[in-house]
Amino acid sequence: KYEFTNVKCNATDPTFGNFRYCYIKAINRTYKYVSIRYYSTQVPYTNITVKLGLYKRFNGYKPFLYNITINACKFLKSPKTYPVLKFFFDIIYPASNFHHPCPYDHDIILDKLTIATVNHYFTNILPFSEGDYMIEIRWVVYAVERAVTTLYGTLS
Ligand SMILES: *[C@@H]1O[C@H](CO)[C@@H](O)[C@H](O)[C@H]1NC(C)=O
Ligand SMILES: *[C@@H]1O[C@H](CO)[C@@H](O)[C@H](O)[C@H]1NC(C)=O
Ligand SMILES: *[C@@H]1O[C@H](CO)[C@@H](O)[C@H](O)[C@H]1NC(C)=O
Ligand SMILES: *[C@@H]1O[C@H](CO)[C@@H](O)[C@H](O)[C@H]1NC(C)=O
Repeated sequence: KYEFTNVKCNATDPTFGNFRYCYIKAINRTYKYVSIRYYSTQVPYTNITVKLGLYKRFNGYKPFLYNITINACKFLKSPKTYPVLKFFFDIIYPASNFHHPCPYDHDIILDKLTIATVNHYFTNILPFSEGDYMIEIRWVVYAVERAVTTLYGTLS
């Protein structure tokens, strides 16, 4: 059983933008969701690189298995040409406004992404061993890191 336990957002370049909010909310034991909203003072922007890293906690969090760099504007222009990526992207797609081609000139919103949906994918698709995991997403715009979002979870 996979369970997301926490989310953290760090506006590493606050001159470029910042988070309006970033949290996990538990309505009850089975219904939890993640909401994130980021704004930039330097819109529009047309070059977004997403660096995604999976970490597992051994003695502190260590890189584990996945480390991918995605040219987001290329991907968003024709998602169908990247089937594996699109498969994961489709999980967050309905809850997000980060799905049209570049440029981006508005807040990036993840609105009430239901944790059960995400847990389902992790539990059934990734054949991992028990432990604490962390998914770190680094947002690079015009070759400068602007923000980092980190999701923490436990597989038991
Ligand atoms: C956020 O990122 C900055 C720059 O990398 C770093 O100095 C700071 O410690 C980070 N803050 C948190 C809470 O991780
Ligand atoms: C949890 O909350 C959701 C949304 O309000 C509701 O649909 C669901 O029935 C609740 N589940 C339990 C076990 O109370
Ligand atoms: C991913 O690879 C890059 C470049 O090789 C490296 O700088 C980074 O630390 C790696 N991140 C993880 C999570 O392994
Ligand atoms: C976008 O930024 C990346 C570095 O993050 C750079 O390698 C690439 O050439 C840039 N692309 C365009 C179209 O400016």
